[in-house]
Amino acid sequence: MSDSSGIYIHIPYCKQICPYCDFNVYPQQQANWQGLSNALVNELIARAHLFTDKKISSVYFGGGTPSLAPLALVEEVMTIIAEHYRLESNAEITLEIDPATASREKCANLLALGINRMSLGWQSMRAPNLKVLGRSHQAEDNLELLESLRVMGVKNISCDLIFALPGQSLNDLEQDLKILLAACPEHISLYALTYHEGTPFYDWRKKGRLKPCSEDNELSMMRHMKSELEMHGYEHYEVSNYAREGFRSRHNQHYWHGRSYLGVGPGAESFLKENNFSAERWQTLKNPASYMHAWREQVSGTVRPVEQVQDLAWHERLGSRQIWNEKVLSGVRLAQGFDVGEFATYLDKEQFPEALSKAIALGWIDRASAKLVPSVQGREQADALAELFFNLVP
Ligand SMILES: C[S@@+](CC[C@H](N)C(=O)[O-])C[C@H]1O[C@@H](n2cnc3c(N)ncnc32)[C@H](O)[C@@H]1O
Ligand code: SF4
Repeated sequence: MSDSSGIYIHIPYCKQICPYCDFNVYPQQQANWQGLSNALVNELIARAHLFTDKKISSVYFGGGTPSLAPLALVEEVMTIIAEHYRLESNAEITLEIDPATASREKCANLLALGINRMSLGWQSMRAPNLKVLGRSHQAEDNLELLESLRVMGVKNISCDLIFALPGQSLNDLEQDLKILLAACPEHISLYALTYHEGTPFYDWRKKGRLKPCSEDNELSMMRHMKSELEMHGYEHYEVSNYAREGFRSRHNQHYWHGRSYLGVGPGAESFLKENNFSAERWQTLKNPASYMHAWREQVSGTVRPVEQVQDLAWHERLGSRQIWNEKVLSGVRLAQGFDVGEFATYLDKEQFPEALSKAIALGWIDRASAKLVPSVQGREQADALAELFFNLVP
């Protein structure tokens, strides 16, 4: 069977480390670009045999800050993917850009290498917010970047915004929204600021130096943005994501629909699904130097991740219950919901109807058919909704 999959490439370096970020990132002064490029190529070649039956419909350069990577690295990775994988001719190929790091010339060259979707880390259009977030770009850089990408002919642009910032008011967010809507990107990701343990933001909140936005305020912001964006023609297709028609992120949908994907680079995760009852997942070594050491040479033969456990952060096998739980967890966040499909015959005959009735009574599920479609309230309460359906298969 020919299934569709995506490839994620992790670029772990950033111009500077933002105080709220808990991705696997390191300052660019530590970058070993040649070592990273070699390792990515070797890992991609070694994993290709696991994906021979799958078409690759998306490639995603994420980070960290992929816009910092030398063009030669992007070119080499794209060449290897084209040579060793069944890359679809119209594949979605995304690269994340921190506006502080991308010259016009670099962007033009990235386009020439086949990047056809640019995801811009705008974060905010308000100078005081960018300052709070410790970003090194100005609000004007955000707009200038988007406008010059348009002039270059980029037809698929996504913008990331962070909201629920300390002290942020609805009025402040409204100004971000106005500029965003006028810029008219095809795709928008809106993330509520998360205070991750181990980040400076987490400590500053604990010490009272940062006063978080209240839950009520965050919910009003979410609702306000939803109604504004929907009024302007965006579909709210996933809790944090909005798209114009035809511009949902193809890559993220591989994750959300429980399809296989390959992640390469330091700390990248992969998921390989055999069927609804068996899958495996692994993470590469997080530390860039250790990762590069593990992949310094080409691996001969068809080595499976499980045989290379010493060179991975971890590897796990998933059975039907875990696969179902994960399907539920992402499915309740999607406007289109999810198909109970092949799981139907395995669902607990008593507990599943009970969970369904409860979700309908709470107004969290819109329709009860082979497809479970969460209501707007259901998506706002996604974790609680998911919990009702957990563990209902053996
Ligand atoms: C890998 S970054 C995007 C590219 C680039 N590194 C940048 O920041 O511009 C992915 C996105 O995650 C979001 N993000 C990161 N940390 C976050 C946090 N603590 N809370 C909410 N959103 C966060 C930001 O919107 C960011 O653009
Ligand atoms: S938010 Fe983006 S630029 Fe900032 S540290 Fe994280 S990955 Fe790097």
